[in-house]
Amino acid sequence: MDDGSAQATWAILVAAGTGERLGSDRPKAFAALAGRPLLAESLERLDASDWVDAIVVAAPPEWEEPAILLAEELVASKVTSVVTGGATRAESVRNALAEVSDEALVVLVHDAARPLVDDAVIERVLGGLDGTVEGVVPGLAVRDTVKRVERGLVAETVDRDGLVAVQTPQAFLADRLRAAYAGDLAGATDCASLVERAGGRIAVVEGDPRLGKVTTADDLRRVEQLLDRSEP
Ligand code: CTP
Ligand code: MG
Repeated sequence: MDDGSAQATWAILVAAGTGERLGSDRPKAFAALAGRPLLAESLERLDASDWVDAIVVAAPPEWEEPAILLAEELVASKVTSVVTGGATRAESVRNALAEVSDEALVVLVHDAARPLVDDAVIERVLGGLDGTVEGVVPGLAVRDTVKRVERGLVAETVDRDGLVAVQTPQAFLADRLRAAYAGDLAGATDCASLVERAGGRIAVVEGDPRLGKVTTADDLRRVEQLLDRSEP
């Protein structure tokens, strides 16, 4: 990894949220998943991926040091820096983006709250960057009927056709992601929405049900069960 081309794909791992809905005594990224911090799972998986050349982690304020120690413990040698996250996910991504090399061609952004990232989905999102789009996101077709509710009453049943629930990792051309993050971040719930706002085209590839986000304590148990089944 001594020339620019060898560091073409950078990963940003956002782990700086408080995890309010999980209700743990520590930030969600450091809540225990099968006996180690939740962050360990995605960090180890990204570090092991041949598709990923370097990793920047966004950690909660005051948790930068534990994040560095965790990376050392896991021998996650692709981690180039740990930055302090911001007040919103988008601000955390922006802080991490500042540490991504100018040489990077592609940036993958992943939520530490989705521990079970694997090479198959990384390959799908990177493979989707075929020169016709600026970004690629994994998504799952919405199977349930979706309704818009106002003050407890159904205002509308939304046409499910074409509706997709979007996950991470999301892949972007590095220069387009930087341009999108140079602007206003208000209201951004994912990276792709900012690139869309800046006029970028985003493709959707197949997501993975195992990539569901850990939000509550029940989700942690669910992922632990999936881990039991997926580990040798
Ligand atoms: N995230 C972040 N910086 C923030 C907020 C969120 O890096 N200021 C990250 C989280 O660490 C997580 C991902 O963005 O990996 C998705 O956010 P979410 O699941 O909402 O996590 P939290 O914000 O921590 O959880 P909650 O909303 O329940 O507080
Ligand atoms: Mg949140």
